[in-house]
Amino acid sequence: MKKIVILTGAGISAESGLGTFRDEGGLWAQHAIEDVATPEGFARDAQLVHDFYNARRANAAQAQPNAAHHALARLEAEHPGEVFIITQNVDALHERAGSRNVLHMHGQLDRALCGACGHRWDAPAVMRPEDACPACRVRATRPDVVWFGEIPYGMERIDPALSEADLFAAIGTSGQVFPAAAYGQHARRMGAHTVELNLEDSAASRDFDDCLRGKATEIVPLWVEGLLSRA
Ligand code: APR
Repeated sequence: MKKIVILTGAGISAESGLGTFRDEGGLWAQHAIEDVATPEGFARDAQLVHDFYNARRANAAQAQPNAAHHALARLEAEHPGEVFIITQNVDALHERAGSRNVLHMHGQLDRALCGACGHRWDAPAVMRPEDACPACRVRATRPDVVWFGEIPYGMERIDPALSEADLFAAIGTSGQVFPAAAYGQHARRMGAHTVELNLEDSAASRDFDDCLRGKATEIVPLWVEGLLSRA
């Protein structure tokens, strides 16, 4: 198993206390996507959107990486081949667990973006509509996260990675948001062995050769142990 590519979703951070989106009482049950996670919503009410991301930024800063994040960091450190994490999550728990080779395809809560000049910088704990961009001074600052209708980040790295993967795993994602939801199918078509580690079946489960079911903090460390003992 030379190259391992891993897609993670909100389920891997659930046991760190961060909400998922589509589970019972999830974030999309509490907030209308069109109001807090679209460019149109931001244009309509920037304060509402900043409030939403300020709250998530504060939660994410308080959260601790869990055994699943640590297991993936161990895999990267000990596996003889490349381990590449493509995360849909905007928290920094993979990095805080020690993972280095991480791509945030939906952006990061810890980063800010200027809608006017494209400048990026480390986000302050609280962002406000009246904040001026540190580079161009225009009051067009926003969280550096990918909203619905926008292009995910890193696509130029993701497609080659899926083609070169010997093993592709999806962890804690419901398989309902594209393009990530098709990555298992794509990797399998390109010859990878595919594994889904999730609490329950997802919309993409049929794309996976193996499906491991359970809580991420339980099944991910066992899965990593198995990979490293066979390496
Ligand atoms: N362990 C493992 N899996 C879990 C756990 C857990 N403790 N808790 C929940 N899950 C699973 C759920 O069963 C579900 O399949 O994690 C998945 C979470 O799915 P979503 O809430 O849809 O999150 P995600 O798939 O990451 O959403 C993708 O949608 O709204 C956008 O940009 C947002 O990145 C997000 C994208």
